[in-house]
Amino acid sequence: MAMDGDRVGWGIVGYGWVARDYMAPGIRAAGHRLVAVCDPGEGSRAAAEAEGARAYATLDRLIADPEVEAVYVATPNHLHREAVAALAAAGKPVLCEKPMAARLDDAEAMAEAVIASGVFYGTAFDQRHHPGHRAMRAAIAQGRLGTVTAIRIVYACWLDRRWTSLPGQDNWRIDPKQAGGGALIDLAPHGLDLVDFLLGESIADLFALTQARAQDYEVDDGALIIGRTGSGVLANLHVAYNCPDALPRRRLEVIGTKGQLVAVDTMGQTAGGTVTFTDGTTGASEDIAFDRDASPFAEQVRAFGSALRRPAERDAYSIARDLHTARLVMRAYASEQTGRHGTDL
Ligand SMILES: NC(=O)c1ccc[n+]([C@@H]2O[C@H](COP(=O)([O-])OP(=O)(O)OC[C@H]3O[C@@H](n4cnc5c(N)ncnc54)[C@H](O)[C@@H]3O)[C@@H](O)[C@H]2O)c1
Repeated sequence: MAMDGDRVGWGIVGYGWVARDYMAPGIRAAGHRLVAVCDPGEGSRAAAEAEGARAYATLDRLIADPEVEAVYVATPNHLHREAVAALAAAGKPVLCEKPMAARLDDAEAMAEAVIASGVFYGTAFDQRHHPGHRAMRAAIAQGRLGTVTAIRIVYACWLDRRWTSLPGQDNWRIDPKQAGGGALIDLAPHGLDLVDFLLGESIADLFALTQARAQDYEVDDGALIIGRTGSGVLANLHVAYNCPDALPRRRLEVIGTKGQLVAVDTMGQTAGGTVTFTDGTTGASEDIAFDRDASPFAEQVRAFGSALRRPAERDAYSIARDLHTARLVMRAYASEQTGRHGTDL
């Protein structure tokens, strides 16, 4: 439970699936308040009112609501830019969903607006706040893996043409204009950001291959990315919309000269999963303990609210880092189109 001073009043722009199923419960679990939402959809506004929030059809009314202290943006990707620019101009702190935008020029414009206004901004990389990932980061920082050599990630799901996030919502994820791409732009930002979170350094170079293999739509339904960090750690990410949800499909491995960490079912929106350490000398494995009930969304709300109240904690957020991640996604697509190594964007 948050201390009283930490009880942030939240506004939400776009009250769809992620906002209703994960962010609103996260706000409650963190002891904060959902004050108001803005959404042009009547059903979405009715859902917000049922949660006790005020519901507006337009953003200007949310911005004018004096109880809204921080705003979570969870609209389809192509609409992040206009919301973030308006919120930044109004001086409202923003937590914006990933990917930052559907297009690189939108992400760049968002970064300019945020920097010019000086507002506190974070991209909602909730998986940074999964306690299992925090435990992995601590084990790596303690040197348990020795020299880290590689990270391997599988993050996949099933998303067909008929998939809807919630009954009545559009499947904007398969529209290149609204989503900016397919499985790669939707799922890879989490893994790219986790590489940075776990190692403290970003991927510098990368290359990708995509596929449109099992689904009947225009955007990619699978992608393989290979990358390398500035210090030379190799990363490989397999993301997909063509993997049945009942198959094993969420796995994160970090390999070093002294040991290996394997996280299963930690990537995603929910609490739980397992993290195992295997010793490189003996081959013995042990479970790494972490809070299996702590939701990454509730932890994300707590961290953002705490940094809102204590500016020194804002160092954990960086729009330059998030813009780099957005560039990596676009480089990955560009490398696919040109067949060249993706370093020139
Ligand atoms: N971090 C995660 O794990 C995670 C999970 C799911 C979605 N997301 C991201 O969250 C965002 C939303 O995804 P979703 O699955 O919840 O989508 P969704 O389609 O379920 O919901 C989007 C909502 O935005 C509303 N909307 C449309 N135009 C709007 C506007 N101009 N102003 C305000 N609201 C508007 C829609 O009416 C809808 O209610 C996407 O960027 C997605 O990538 C992140």
